[in-house]
Amino acid sequence: MLGVDVGRTTGRPHLDSADVSREPMIAPSLLSADFARLADEVARVADADWLHVDVMDAHFVPNLTLGLPVVEAIQRVSPVPLDCHLMITDPERWAPGYAEAGARNVTVHVEACRDARAVARDIRAAGALAGLAIKPGTPLEDHLELLRDFDTLLVMSVEPGFGGQSFIADVLPKVREARRRVDSGELTLIVEIDGGINADTIEQAAEAGVDMFVAGSAVYGADDPGTAIAALRAQAAAAMRG
Ligand code: DX5
Ligand code: ZN
Repeated sequence: MLGVDVGRTTGRPHLDSADVSREPMIAPSLLSADFARLADEVARVADADWLHVDVMDAHFVPNLTLGLPVVEAIQRVSPVPLDCHLMITDPERWAPGYAEAGARNVTVHVEACRDARAVARDIRAAGALAGLAIKPGTPLEDHLELLRDFDTLLVMSVEPGFGGQSFIADVLPKVREARRRVDSGELTLIVEIDGGINADTIEQAAEAGVDMFVAGSAVYGADDPGTAIAALRAQAAAAMRG
């Protein structure tokens, strides 16, 4: 079983360092699903660790997807804990609502936050893990102190906004740095990567130190999403073992 409590068993609001192991976890991104059949699409990825839900507001990113009412509806039918990735301005105002809706992890972008610590506190108080996302061009070093108040770090490996883009390998040094600080005990985080993860790219991300792999088109574009999840997980596990 997985070493990280990603929400299937308890409602604990944050991670203990003992929880963080190096078993690969897969979070299919619903962005690549058929939005006309959301309940069916959620059911197709029942073997996933988390279900990644991209919330976009057409301000922080040039795309508009879905918001709280739809997340609440997905939460009611999902067998998998929700991982809400908020690509929105004013996360202070909106993020706690996603935690209250039952999401296991709520991630906000550091580039959008006025007071990221306060957002983390409010997300945790509402019962979810708190995640911090950084765009490909955002340095990690500037936010290391802040990460002490978060449970997950989402390293974007494409510019946020759209599925199906090409993986940006230049972000991998940030993953390695985060991994080093988690392994040394300085930070307690699930290291997550998002964008362009597929059979061709997952191994390099796994070697760099990712725990949680978001994959949209690679899962929902496959004939059988369950088989794609298992294959990605096995590939990542093999790469982690070296
Ligand atoms: C992009 C989103 C991603 C996207 C990933 O802004 O945050 O979660 O769905 O899609 P793929 O895996 O197709 O790159
Ligand atoms: Zn995402």
